[in-house]
Amino acid sequence: MNEDYIKKFEEAKERIIRAENSNELEEIKREVLGKQGFLTQLLRSLGKLPQEERVKLGRLVNEWKEVLEKLYEEKEKELKYKTLQNKLYQENIDITLPGRKKIVGKIHPINQVIEEILSVFKEMGFQVVYGPELETDYYNFTALNIPEDHPVRESHDSFYIDKEHLLRTQTSPVQVRVMEKKKPPLRIVAPGKCYRRDMPDATHSPMFHQIEGLAVDTDITFAELKGVLSIFAHRLFGKDRKVYFIPSYFPFTEPSAEMYVECGVCKGEGCKACGYSGVLEILGCGMVHPQVFRVVNIDPEIYSGFAFGMGPDRIAMQIYGIDDIRLFYENDVRFLKQF
Ligand code: DAH
Repeated sequence: MNEDYIKKFEEAKERIIRAENSNELEEIKREVLGKQGFLTQLLRSLGKLPQEERVKLGRLVNEWKEVLEKLYEEKEKELKYKTLQNKLYQENIDITLPGRKKIVGKIHPINQVIEEILSVFKEMGFQVVYGPELETDYYNFTALNIPEDHPVRESHDSFYIDKEHLLRTQTSPVQVRVMEKKKPPLRIVAPGKCYRRDMPDATHSPMFHQIEGLAVDTDITFAELKGVLSIFAHRLFGKDRKVYFIPSYFPFTEPSAEMYVECGVCKGEGCKACGYSGVLEILGCGMVHPQVFRVVNIDPEIYSGFAFGMGPDRIAMQIYGIDDIRLFYENDVRFLKQF
């Protein structure tokens, strides 16, 4: 027996034991146990030996083969296990990490208040309608009995797009649009955004909301106006909240009034929330001016109506005890999710 073969056998054992990955192990298998491998060659060469030696050597070579095959199998198992462990380690998930919170969307607090107000009027037979935010000078002012040089135009610091078009400063033009298209009896409420060039501060925002109301029929009286708006205020603020109607002026109503409710914070005593007046202004209202009826071809001798306009932003501030209107429009989720 050639010393070389013993060395080769020992070497092969070593290489199998040391193999670091399955590619390397396969390579070794081919070199050692394959057709061109030294063991196969050795077995082939046995034929030339005399019988006695051939048997002896044949047995030895077969023993070697078994040893190497066994080593190979063990190594193969070991490497497979290692690969799996590596994969598991790489794909490891840290189950102690906190999960991602799903933020559930909510209706904006102002829209919640608008919905609530609309639902009270819907129960009283009012229909919800909408008008455009981009208005013409005619609908926003002229048709509402506010001619070009009327001083009220100055108090509605407007965003004009061109000579004729502006962002509506109030929802009142919806009254005109509705009466142009539909004949009385009419009972509508029109919510929506309005725009005025006001510097933002705690009580002003250049974009704000209004809800307009209009009722037209043959026998509408100021008493019905008071009744409907009192019911509304009591539904929204509670039965024992006092309401007051105070004479006022609007170009498109005659007579006109402002409705106040007792301050909910101080119960009429006077506090910071109500500017120490004990009351809060909720809306403007009045009987539809005959001139407005004439513009839309409704005969003021036959029909009468009442109208009102309110600011849900300020009502929301009162309901939720918010002292700065800007908080509603900054859309900080931490603020919004409280409602
Ligand atoms: N549009 C008025 C404003 O923005 C509010 C208003 C007052 C609307 C009286 C009305 C009304 O319909 O009758 O100041």
